Amino acid sequence: MNPPPCFDTAGQRLTLGAKLGEGGEGTVYALGGEAVKLYHRPLERHRQQKLAAMTAGCTPRLLQFAAWPTATVHDGPQRDSPVCGFRMPRVQGTPLHLHFSPTDRKERFPHEHWDYLVRVAQNLAAAMATLHRHGIVIGDVNENLFVVEEATSLVRLVDCDSFQLTAGGIRFPCLVSSPEFTPPELIGQALRTIERTPCQDTFGLAVLVFKLLLGGWHPFDGTTTLPVQIEQRISQGLYAYGTQGGITPPGLGVNPARVTPALVDLFRAAFNPPGGSRPSAAQWFVALQALGASLVQCQHEPAHKFSATVANCPWCASEAQGITHFFTPPRGTTGRAAFVAEKARRQANLLAAQATVQRLQGQWHQHVQQQMGTLVAELQQAQERLQRLTQQGEVLKDRYLQARHAAYAQSFLALCRIRDAQIPGIGLVRIEALARNGIHTAADLTGGYWDVRGIGYELQRRLMDWRDACAQRIVLPTSVSDQVELQRIDDAVAQQCGPVAREVQRLEAEVQQRQTVVQSQLQDLHQRLQAATRAEAQAQRQVASL
Ligand SMILES: Nc1ncnc2c1ncn2[C@@H]1O[C@H](COP(=O)(O)OP(=O)(O)OP(=O)(O)O)[C@@H](O)[C@H]1O
Ligand SMILES: [Mg+2]
Repeated sequence: MNPPPCFDTAGQRLTLGAKLGEGGEGTVYALGGEAVKLYHRPLERHRQQKLAAMTAGCTPRLLQFAAWPTATVHDGPQRDSPVCGFRMPRVQGTPLHLHFSPTDRKERFPHEHWDYLVRVAQNLAAAMATLHRHGIVIGDVNENLFVVEEATSLVRLVDCDSFQLTAGGIRFPCLVSSPEFTPPELIGQALRTIERTPCQDTFGLAVLVFKLLLGGWHPFDGTTTLPVQIEQRISQGLYAYGTQGGITPPGLGVNPARVTPALVDLFRAAFNPPGGSRPSAAQWFVALQALGASLVQCQHEPAHKFSATVANCPWCASEAQGITHFFTPPRGTTGRAAFVAEKARRQANLLAAQATVQRLQGQWHQHVQQQMGTLVAELQQAQERLQRLTQQGEVLKDRYLQARHAAYAQSFLALCRIRDAQIPGIGLVRIEALARNGIHTAADLTGGYWDVRGIGYELQRRLMDWRDACAQRIVLPTSVSDQVELQRIDDAVAQQCGPVAREVQRLEAEVQQRQTVVQSQLQDLHQRLQAATRAEAQAQRQVASL
């Protein structure tokens, strides 16, 4: 959609260029090297006055740090046409929040390290300090307000028309706030009636510096039973690294004490409950400048810059926990295409390293197989033969005992006479009938249905139950002849096993001997495999660091 017609203060029609961005209140267009913001809706009178006051108060120093309104823009050519927007310097760069997380930085600024982030933080503090010196309060501090120019690490503010300022004795308030950056004393307040102060801005500044320097975590992130909402955590002073407690810092969070001991007190003063005074933007600037001056480079990884005031590289410690914060820049190159090429090169290196490890492992197995394969197979076969013979002996003994038991049981049951038993329903008449059919004892009661007159299914079941009860009483007595027979089986098995067991022993000794020889033969291959595994791990790290 084409922008609506608009005019400068001299009544000249402005020819707007490409759309640069859009927000809730207006759309921003290019105007040559400048930018113009046009509001979506007609502006109330005091907002028009505010813009006029802002353009009148514009200074070169402000323009260094902010897209400050330089002239009003009107919806008609006449002198008194209503203000519908304003001109401002065009700002180029990347929103501050895209510098917070390692993932975003890896994608956009793989070359930039912690020293760059410290410079950005310092310039952020400088921008806010400049506004405060001009009597301007940002009010709605948030991560979208700040744009970073990568080449210079300068930070500039956009959306300046929402700031609070006083001009000609009139205070133009800031009516908005963003929860993550709102200090505890402002939470739940009616913003229309409140005069915002620089000290409130610096709560948001401290949150931004924290996120920028410490891996993107919010200072009130962490584990706490209550409450979930960030505003509630802020109003209860639940700063994760504060002195009050009640919250456990996130497991992978970056503790300021480990990385920036010099800033620990500033963070505590900024985040601890209301009442105390917060460090000003100028104080942050000085502290960050000193931090920048104290940085050294890690001995192991050039991408790691850290304060000389800490004993060990904190970024190496983070990597040991599995988080890479900073990335190795492609050698002697800049730009996205070179980055992609370097990434492809490192991935190819990794594949080659993995292939080497696999090849050496293959050689290893092949050598072991050649030298040991037949011998190990022979040993296994002999061991299996020995096991089979031993099992056969057990089977023979089981079979003998089963046969002995069966024979003894038959003779035992033959002594259990039906006539002598008390089986309900089986009286003399039926005992005679059974005897006529050759059934006298428990041994004669076999499975299946017998056709005996007067003995139906139920009586047959009772007879079988009686037979089973008799069988329960059978205990095979130990006899000398059984002992002799079992011993005979054991002896026969031992005779057969002897030569096989000796063969197993011989083969085991030979395998052990051969193993020692093979190990010494493989020493060289072992070292090459170890070196290749190390190279693979390094290639993996190099890919991960991009
Ligand atoms: N001076 C500028 N130069 C280049 N781009 C700009 C400039 N000012 C604003 N923009 C772009 O336009 C977008 C919208 O601008 P701005 O935040 O001022 O609008 P807004 O309607 O007031 O937004 P909000 O509702 O968030 O307050 C910005 O996020 C930014 O991307
Ligand atoms: Mg706005």
